[in-house]
Amino acid sequence: MSDFTLTFPRDFKWGTATAAHQVEGQNTNNQWWQWEQTHGRIANGDSSGRAAGWWENAEADFDRMAELGLNAHRLSVEWSRIEPRDGVFDSAALERYHEMLRGLRQRGIEPMVTLHHFTNPVWLDEQRTWEDADRIVPRFARFTEMVVKALGDVCDLWCPINEPNVFAVMGYLSGGRMPPGVIDLSRAVSVLRNMLSAHAAAYETLHAHQALARVGIAHHMRVFQGLRAANLLDATVAHIHASVFNDSLFDALIYGRWHWILRRGATASARKLRGTLDWIGLNYYSRHRSAFDRTKPQSLYGDLFYTPGAQMSDFNFGEIYPEGLLMLLRKLARYKLPIYITENGLPDHDDDLRPSFLVQHLRSLWQAIQFCLDVRGYYHWSFIDNFEWSEGFRMKFGLLGMDTHTQERDVRRSALLYRDVVTSGTLTSDMVRTYTPELIQVLFP
Ligand code: BGC
Repeated sequence: MSDFTLTFPRDFKWGTATAAHQVEGQNTNNQWWQWEQTHGRIANGDSSGRAAGWWENAEADFDRMAELGLNAHRLSVEWSRIEPRDGVFDSAALERYHEMLRGLRQRGIEPMVTLHHFTNPVWLDEQRTWEDADRIVPRFARFTEMVVKALGDVCDLWCPINEPNVFAVMGYLSGGRMPPGVIDLSRAVSVLRNMLSAHAAAYETLHAHQALARVGIAHHMRVFQGLRAANLLDATVAHIHASVFNDSLFDALIYGRWHWILRRGATASARKLRGTLDWIGLNYYSRHRSAFDRTKPQSLYGDLFYTPGAQMSDFNFGEIYPEGLLMLLRKLARYKLPIYITENGLPDHDDDLRPSFLVQHLRSLWQAIQFCLDVRGYYHWSFIDNFEWSEGFRMKFGLLGMDTHTQERDVRRSALLYRDVVTSGTLTSDMVRTYTPELIQVLFP
């Protein structure tokens, strides 16, 4: 087997991603905290509790990031800390975030800040505000304005909203995976539409206060393919799933029009949303197989499966399908915007899959760059094990492990592999031999 070296661009951003509620701890004033308090909703009876202790001491993990050579990190600010009551802002909370962002910069790590990552202040949720465009859009813009005024001197890379499609589907169609835990297609549709409108308002606000702001979105996309080979109905349903889940966002934010599913109940046109992306963030995890089922109108006449026999991550979280990353990046190329991979990772408690997962996904990324796709950065999900929503702490996504009782960290082998990649800007056959030798044969049979 000959040696190889895959080289990445010199200014490439190598990072990790986290979200406030999953790592900070004690976010007691949001809807998720409330939701967690009911037994049975979170695996193993967990609740976010101390999480990874970032509110007190994120800096200890920032040191560890710097030791691994990372030059980027995506994190979110917690709305319920910054605006604990409608219109009341907490300057101490903003100051703490300022300190964190300074801390990242001092270590040579560029922050990307998400403003909304699944959590809402309790006051906002009590009034079902995401379902009412007239109430949510100005409130989200006001919150954005406070954040950019307070943090604009230490951050210019913004992601107003994380995964509107997942927020809408999990909260309003999954029947209990996320609050409010209902099944209601028309509420899901209005929440998704309002999130896109809120994104556009935040885009305008950020640019109004910061001329050089770079504003994008972290969009969860999946590969959808028909379950049964050569079955036309399955292929059609897969196409519909992809169109709704993956593409409807771009119809609004790139072209300024509502996708057919978002036209249900729309009272205003989407024209104002047009051109409100400076970059696209791709959150990529896995592939789904769609199968036609005429009894399932709620899921657009289809059911979702994983590929029979596919390699799965812990708890069957998802199929490991690295080719999908390249497929989706190639689709995104049509929008002619810079791309960041804002999340990619897997739950793998014993770290036996993560090294090969990393190598194969980074190879897909490298291939995309060879195709001249404008991919600027990769943020692995996640830096450290954290509170995985309804899965609690049992799903371990971290490059670093964490003992939830003692808060002790351990550096997994995949973190060392990632360090070798980011510090050299290359992925080499030696790294593959060291960290995941069985892959050499797979990559180069
Ligand atoms: C979310 C993260 C979550 C990850 C793994 C993404 O959809 O943005 O918050 O932890 O998936 O499930």
